[in-house]
Amino acid sequence: MKRITTFVVATLVALTSLMACAQNSKSKNAETMDGKKVLVAYFSWSGNTADVAKYVASKTGADLFEVVREKAYPVDYTPCTDEAKAEKERGDRPAIKGEVKNMEQYDVVFVGVPVWWYTAPMPVFTFLDKYDFGGKTVIPFCTAYTAEYETLNDIVAATPNSSHLEGLTLITKEMGGKGMDKQYGTIDQWLNKLNF
Ligand SMILES: Cc1cc2nc3c(=O)[nH]c(=O)nc-3n(C[C@H](O)[C@H](O)[C@H](O)COP(=O)(O)O)c2cc1C
Repeated sequence: MKRITTFVVATLVALTSLMACAQNSKSKNAETMDGKKVLVAYFSWSGNTADVAKYVASKTGADLFEVVREKAYPVDYTPCTDEAKAEKERGDRPAIKGEVKNMEQYDVVFVGVPVWWYTAPMPVFTFLDKYDFGGKTVIPFCTAYTAEYETLNDIVAATPNSSHLEGLTLITKEMGGKGMDKQYGTIDQWLNKLNF
């Protein structure tokens, strides 16, 4: 009899904790990004960040917006780095092409950039200055050859009226968008952690 009672009690305890778990994952789901309107805005010169941005958009059902400087950057690497360095040192906010249609509709905005001279390319700051990110959740990510330095923090600082979720840095020694698919697993883990 004692054994039966113990068994019944143990079963009840197990069932109760199972139900609590189910409840928890349900309330966790309620906090997921389900139903949120998501934009992935990105800048990319050689294609790495574009590849990541497109992958993030495909996984989150987001719209995409590419930030493009009105005056194109040089196609060759060294002239491009020289121009980007001078632009950064001057603190330029170069004009950018196109518009995000109805920015108000987005609850969440991923902002993806390559690291350029230890921060984001200047046209990205033009983009961040241009729209009202107040009340939105901004999630930065970057691709870099060596390190992110202050890049993600600089995006956070440029959107002071937003809330922010943990960003992602992807280091790659390749350019032109090659080999970014090797990083998709890391991107998946990050998105899962953010409840997407
Ligand atoms: C103008 C310029 C400046 C760069 N500055 C840095 C840097 O400061 N630190 C770094 O790790 N990588 C730097 N890189 C490398 C890029 O961040 C890296 O290759 C990135 O993945 C390229 O992204 P994209 O293909 O989207 O343009 C620089 C590249 C360029 C073209």
